[in-house]
Amino acid sequence: MISGVFMEDIVKEWSELKRAIEYHNYRYYTLDAPEISDAEYDRLFQRMLFLERQYPNLVTFDSPTQRIGAQPQEAFSEVRHRHPMLSLENCFSDEEVKDFDQRVRKLLKKSLKLPDDDSIEYTVEPKIDGLAVELVYAGGRLVTGSTRGDGYVGENITANVKTILSVPLGLDQSKGGRPFPDLLEVRGEIYMEKEAFELFNKSRVMKGETAFANPRNAAAGSVRQLDSKVTAKRPLSMFCYGVGTPKDLDCGTQYELMLTLQRWGLRVNRPHIKLCRKLEEVIEYSREIERQRNVFPYEIDGAVIKVNRIDFQTLLGEKARTPRWALAYKFKPNQETTRIVRIGVQVGRTGALTPVAHLEPVSIGGVTVRRATLHNEQEIMRKDIREGDRVVVQRAGDVIPEVVTAIHSVRDGSERPFLMPKMCPVCGTEAVRRPNEKIIECPNPKCPGRLKEALKHFVSRRSMNIEGLGEKILGQLYERGMVKYPADLYALRLEDIISLEKIEEKSAGNLLGAIEKSKYTTLSKFIYALGIRHVGEHVAQVLAGRYSDVQKIQNATMDELTAIPGIGTEIAGSIVEYFSNSSNREMVQRLLDAGVRFAEPPAQSPVSGKTFVITGTLESMKRYEVEELIVKKGGRVASSVSKSTDFIVTGKSPGSKMEKAAKLGIPVLKEEDLIEILRG
Ligand code: IVH
Repeated sequence: MISGVFMEDIVKEWSELKRAIEYHNYRYYTLDAPEISDAEYDRLFQRMLFLERQYPNLVTFDSPTQRIGAQPQEAFSEVRHRHPMLSLENCFSDEEVKDFDQRVRKLLKKSLKLPDDDSIEYTVEPKIDGLAVELVYAGGRLVTGSTRGDGYVGENITANVKTILSVPLGLDQSKGGRPFPDLLEVRGEIYMEKEAFELFNKSRVMKGETAFANPRNAAAGSVRQLDSKVTAKRPLSMFCYGVGTPKDLDCGTQYELMLTLQRWGLRVNRPHIKLCRKLEEVIEYSREIERQRNVFPYEIDGAVIKVNRIDFQTLLGEKARTPRWALAYKFKPNQETTRIVRIGVQVGRTGALTPVAHLEPVSIGGVTVRRATLHNEQEIMRKDIREGDRVVVQRAGDVIPEVVTAIHSVRDGSERPFLMPKMCPVCGTEAVRRPNEKIIECPNPKCPGRLKEALKHFVSRRSMNIEGLGEKILGQLYERGMVKYPADLYALRLEDIISLEKIEEKSAGNLLGAIEKSKYTTLSKFIYALGIRHVGEHVAQVLAGRYSDVQKIQNATMDELTAIPGIGTEIAGSIVEYFSNSSNREMVQRLLDAGVRFAEPPAQSPVSGKTFVITGTLESMKRYEVEELIVKKGGRVASSVSKSTDFIVTGKSPGSKMEKAAKLGIPVLKEEDLIEILRG
């Protein structure tokens, strides 16, 4: 028996959820200005679904669970979808995928359609984080493009979709395949690639316009422009993933349907759609997509699992807003909302002062995030971020977490604007701004903040790779005056290390061994480890490839350096400036005197002098290990494809670099081929 009071509480909670969801729908769909993360929204929605499942009497005709998205804006004309554009049921765990498979089997069994061998095939593909659209082709001609709207009625965006190059204006019969039907309703996702989004946002900011928070908002904002000339200038793309009524098309399976659409000239995400014959494969490939999440050139927020046989799809049918034959396996979100407690300033190794937000701890994708970069003062001003603000924080892969945007609408007036200090917060020296740069710097080369960061960089894995020398030990060594500059590391004795707090003799010995081992390195790692401004791993490789020893690099002139492809005046200027400082030259000498040695110049190998670009995940070795091997053998690794790339190496799930390489006719090496060449 449910007591009256208890039921009252449930109804109250449900009504509050309804109001909140409607409000967030409006912010998201109508204004393109969400106030909460997708994950938070999902939680509200899941809670509402849960309550409605427990107490079906709660469901009303206008419950947010009964419809999708928001009403179309008035300014566009309306388009009624011939078949409702459904949404997808979400799940967040392997268990839920298994439950979905069980439900599918049970229903098919009931209709006596489950094959004797019990096999059910699924397709699995990335879930693109853009906006859903429908394209209607009549007699093969694109006649209407519309947004999903509330699932039944969307906005007429025909003029805008026609500006998107990946949307064919007419279907193509020349590539064979079955003839297209008189009426074809294609569904897909319009999105903006991540790189294009960054560039687009930068140019907006330069023009004094506000930046979009993420590629999805940028795509949505672009598609819903009243002036299609504006849309035409936006870098939009589209992937098609289905049709209104697949059973009319005479394709036996979802996979075949994708191939058919592709033959008609529609863009489908073919290389990443996988046909899975077993449930384990479904789960494994969904995880694989999640692992590769940051490698995709566009944002994805999950994997979509679909029953492959179209007749099964038809049998399974749909619920109010979602089909029973498909499921979205949502990834752990990489954005969350939290609050900025205060804003501090961090000093980098080159002196750059970076504002950092100290946050109320928030878990993003399973990692607790306490601090996030705010990049520079201009970014803070542009985004109007204040201490005390609620903010959206993003953490993607290895990249440092960043504050994406502040949620201005929830301010209560207690927020405090932040001003960059005029002094270095560590040593108190007056900060300076380089001409035409956004960043201000501490110019004091002896600033303890800078020195500690330089040490951290020097010992890091991609630099001298001194294993076991973490921030804590390094901090102690610095504070006790044992190590101030990198060369001091090589003068450490066992007693020095043992004298530190919380270190045992054995690990002290290991650390000393690691320091010794690090002396045997490559010229490019050494150059990178010095931490010269603008000299990242790639430039260090270029320099090491051009010069055989450090002295030659030290003495190189501006003219000599700028003559090297890939080195412009900014980088060259920074190198010359670094080595014109006598303490830097002295330090390099001390390191060499301490015994730092570089691998012999590589013997001529098929790899030497060649430039490689790697795309996708490598399976037999870590990517950095392969890169190291290439460099050891005299080759070069570049991060992006250009005319000077000699080979593109592909691992699993290669990214868009492959397309560019194909356009430039660059030969492709499989991972196995490369390893063979490297070993040979
Ligand atoms: S299939 C019946 N496949 O996700 C709906 N949807 O959260 C069939 N989406 O409304 C959708 N990538 O806009 C499908 N590869 C993909 C997708 C995809 C993104 C979107 C789509 C849908 C939303 C549901």
